[in-house]
Amino acid sequence: MPRVFATRKLPGAALERLARDADVDLWPGDMPPPYEELRRRCADANGVISLLTDRIDAALIAAAPRLRVVSNVAVGYDNIDVAAARSRGVAVGNTPGVLTETTADLAFALLLAAARRIVEAERFVRDGRWQTWDPSLLLGYDVHGATLGIVGFGQIGRAVARRAQGFGMRVLYAGRHDAAPEPGVAAERVPLDALLRASDFVSLHVPLTAETAHMIGEAQLRAMKRTAVLVNTARGGVIDQAALVRALEQGVIAAAGLDVAEVEPVPAGDALLRAPNVTLLPHIGSASHATRERMASIAVDNCLAGLRGEPLPFPVV
Ligand code: GLV
Repeated sequence: MPRVFATRKLPGAALERLARDADVDLWPGDMPPPYEELRRRCADANGVISLLTDRIDAALIAAAPRLRVVSNVAVGYDNIDVAAARSRGVAVGNTPGVLTETTADLAFALLLAAARRIVEAERFVRDGRWQTWDPSLLLGYDVHGATLGIVGFGQIGRAVARRAQGFGMRVLYAGRHDAAPEPGVAAERVPLDALLRASDFVSLHVPLTAETAHMIGEAQLRAMKRTAVLVNTARGGVIDQAALVRALEQGVIAAAGLDVAEVEPVPAGDALLRAPNVTLLPHIGSASHATRERMASIAVDNCLAGLRGEPLPFPVV
């Protein structure tokens, strides 16, 4: 039987299905395998089921001569050196589609939470500071009728645009591809700088690549309205986090809702943890029971296809 290293336990029964056709070496820890251990266990594996916390780099691929497939349990694959895999003939798969709606839900949850100061308000009640109904208490920003700028108009960006219609928002989008909005969804394509200037909310939905790294830096933050809210459910590296912390401290923008960070988990003592008006989540965009089970199942489908030398159902292009 082919050998597969699975770097973490996954929700649902997908890994049991894999074990019917492969000899599965399952990392038992709740923390990711350290890099050296990952590399050691991949050395004689034919396949690896990886997470976004596993660095599958050129050195690891070079040290794994029997590797046929890397199957990432994520839509993003910036943790994998795809060029190195391709040049060795190693197939790489991801899990797009199934997590689109779940991630768009979370982007909207963050947008609403940041606009209406939900986390701060909840803490206020628990801390026993609620004295009376106060006309000036915890004022935030309206979501309905506001302008939403969506940066990256792939599947998740478009799903966010769909949600925004229900809130009566005006939707602008900027993206590399000329992806049109779905029928019945009103959204206008504009250049990024125009989007940043006009939007009350900016939500990021681009993959992390050499082109998108730090695409939101000091200049872009300064282009935004002082009342703007920035939401990131994509990858932390898309934002220059130090510039964002300064922008929040100086009131250059009003607030941010972040599900991702440049370094995950955010290290204790990091300036981001002390920044004002920021709602922080631990990278849970796709974290619903159903979606995580579907992601695991697709990752196993990709892995089995790769082991058989067949085209992956969801290859990374
Ligand atoms: C999660 O961030 C993913 O890329 O699926």
